[in-house]
Amino acid sequence: MIKINENYLRLQSSYLFTDIAHRVAAFQKANPDQEVIKLGIGDVTRALPGACIEAFHRAVDEMADDGKFRGYGPEQGYAFLRETIARHDFQDRGAAISADEIFISDGAKCDTGNIQEIFGADIRIAVPDPVYPVYVDTNVMAGRAGEFKNGRYEGLYYLDSTRENGFVPAPPQSPVDLIYLCFPNNPTGVAITRDQLKAWVDYAREHRALILFDAAYEAFIRDERLPRSIYEIDGAREVAIEFRSFSKTAGFTGTRCAFTVVPKDCMAYDAVGEKHDLHSLWNRRHCTKFNGVSYPVQRAAEAIYSNEGKLQTRELVDYYLKNAALICSEMTAMGFNCVGGENSPYIWVDGSRDSWEFFDLLLKRAGVVCTPGAGFGKCGQGFIRISAFNHYENVQRAMARIKTAL
Ligand code: MLT
Repeated sequence: MIKINENYLRLQSSYLFTDIAHRVAAFQKANPDQEVIKLGIGDVTRALPGACIEAFHRAVDEMADDGKFRGYGPEQGYAFLRETIARHDFQDRGAAISADEIFISDGAKCDTGNIQEIFGADIRIAVPDPVYPVYVDTNVMAGRAGEFKNGRYEGLYYLDSTRENGFVPAPPQSPVDLIYLCFPNNPTGVAITRDQLKAWVDYAREHRALILFDAAYEAFIRDERLPRSIYEIDGAREVAIEFRSFSKTAGFTGTRCAFTVVPKDCMAYDAVGEKHDLHSLWNRRHCTKFNGVSYPVQRAAEAIYSNEGKLQTRELVDYYLKNAALICSEMTAMGFNCVGGENSPYIWVDGSRDSWEFFDLLLKRAGVVCTPGAGFGKCGQGFIRISAFNHYENVQRAMARIKTAL
């Protein structure tokens, strides 16, 4: 008899963004004349930068030529892209990361979801609350969580991100082994300071723990004092894996390209306390289960780092940041407390009422889709997340509609 992985039965009914998409589809079916403005899932709306498109085209033409055609590429990614990333994103910013510590992939969602496979089944896991649901659900699937009770899984350690701690949790008093951090944060939009991040690196070193640092929104950081990579903090190479993505940086949500940095100094331990380097483990996993990102996509990603590519992606991110600033100022003027939106495309709005109720109200009265904070965890109750990914004119219209509706 074929049996299922019963850990899946512990999962909440559906993935948050799928659930929202169903609700919006049902609303649209019932109200075909109501135009809906989507500020829910963080999906980009503007075209790929010109430099990426040109590189993409050139690479596709190469694939049409027997002499230049490429079959399987290296699972870890082509050297041209890994070297470019290492230089521009890390070495030029004083972070000692080498090209062979970078693994190119098709998304930070997949990587943050898959990475847990290389760790023990009985480790103590700390996740922020509110949290990007992938961190929690993938550990539930792997059997690292108990029953779901009162909005939380037993067996997971939740790091409350609240107004009291400025939405940046400090390291816990009790020891944990694997720590998920995301900054600029999804969903709150709050960034972490150098000192706050240093406290986490120090904690991980002291407890032989590991930090999974999701920096998918790093390109939105405009405050030069803020760290863009965890490797800007001394000692982080030994205790942190970092995830990056071109999805929001350069509009690659549909094109698919991201990368994960696993420094060779990063260690974890077996049952008898023997050290093992995580680079080898992740490399083994990656080569076994992944065949690399397509060549044209990697060429398009490389072009992000050209002079024109840098200017164009900066302009793209600035565009969404302008949306974020508008959302922040309008929601604040309507009397809501907001955080995020300055070094991030997300605005975390305290609705002072049930999150799903607020979600429904905005959808039904204003035709605007947001994301209910409660969907990200217990501490998200009472909040909604508004995403800045849309056309500026649509954001203006959405804000005007909300003002009228409330
Ligand atoms: C979000 O809206 O939180 C993100 O777009 C989801 C994702 O990147 O997977």
